[in-house]
Amino acid sequence: MQKLNIGLFGFGVVGEGIYKVLEEKPELNASIKKIVIKDKDKFRNAPSELFSTNANDILNDEEINVVVELISDSDAAYTIIKKAFNNKKHVVSANKKLIAENHLELLQLQKENDVSFLYEASVCGSVPIIRNLEEYFDNDLLNYVSGIVNGTTNYILTKMANENDTYQDALKAAQENGFAEADPTADVEGFDAAHKLTIITLHAFGRKIESNDVIRKGITSLKTKDFEYAKEKGFTIKLIANSRIINENGELISTVLPTFVKLDKTIALVNNEYNGVLIGSSLSDEQFLYGKGAGRFPTSSAVLSDISALQYDYQYSIRKKSDKNIIVNKSGKVKVY
Ligand code: HSE
Repeated sequence: MQKLNIGLFGFGVVGEGIYKVLEEKPELNASIKKIVIKDKDKFRNAPSELFSTNANDILNDEEINVVVELISDSDAAYTIIKKAFNNKKHVVSANKKLIAENHLELLQLQKENDVSFLYEASVCGSVPIIRNLEEYFDNDLLNYVSGIVNGTTNYILTKMANENDTYQDALKAAQENGFAEADPTADVEGFDAAHKLTIITLHAFGRKIESNDVIRKGITSLKTKDFEYAKEKGFTIKLIANSRIINENGELISTVLPTFVKLDKTIALVNNEYNGVLIGSSLSDEQFLYGKGAGRFPTSSAVLSDISALQYDYQYSIRKKSDKNIIVNKSGKVKVY
């Protein structure tokens, strides 16, 4: 088992949680050697000599073999990840926008540099959805992946459905509880879900779609009376992300839309900040993944699972079902299905 010397970018709640867990668990054989932050003068709960404001203190340190990137600026994260790959460092990231926008390029770079790029925390928080999608064997073709992938909007919709809150009151509660950002646009307009769906779609179907290709509508125009009407008819309203093969030619549609869901369906029972995703496949029929999709501990748990996967050289391999995509698996073989 190789020793992991980690360079951490960002020391928010998730970064601090990861630092604490690794300090308390030496058996994980992974420790944080350097932390790059923007403002060095801010008080932080870790020894001051760990901190730097210079990215090169991580990227040029030959002893550091893993970069964990937890910053919100996706352009800066892109530059950091590319440099880390070029310097032969593994990368763990939770940045779905960055991954959705540069997915194939980053996977190609990881391969060329013979390192791993893991990003389980970018989709559905603590729910190991990417790993699960990779577990379906090649002939067990997936037909759809569909469900709730954004915890903030699900928290808001749950309050509107169950407590008759207005959208504004529910949004305020989501902000007070640390789910929604001060600027909630990415979540409430469905951009965050669309980024996640593009990542899911590549792992489920081997198809690279752009977030802009996703047919998307957010939740901002929903009114209390919409939930009353839904309930009267035996439904609730959920923001459903859905990628689905729609015909024998393998045509795929990807949508993020507020959707009427029957109250007795599994997805209707996914409430608050939880995520729940149905996976439909040819042989195993329908399966369901459920868990906390937002919040500091769920995200920390997914990042830690990626760090631990690096101990056994785990790399994602992307399955595919289209003759237009070329998929490179771990052994380096190119497969065209
Ligand atoms: N804003 C995201 C959500 C965080 O609410 O799901 C986790 O990706």
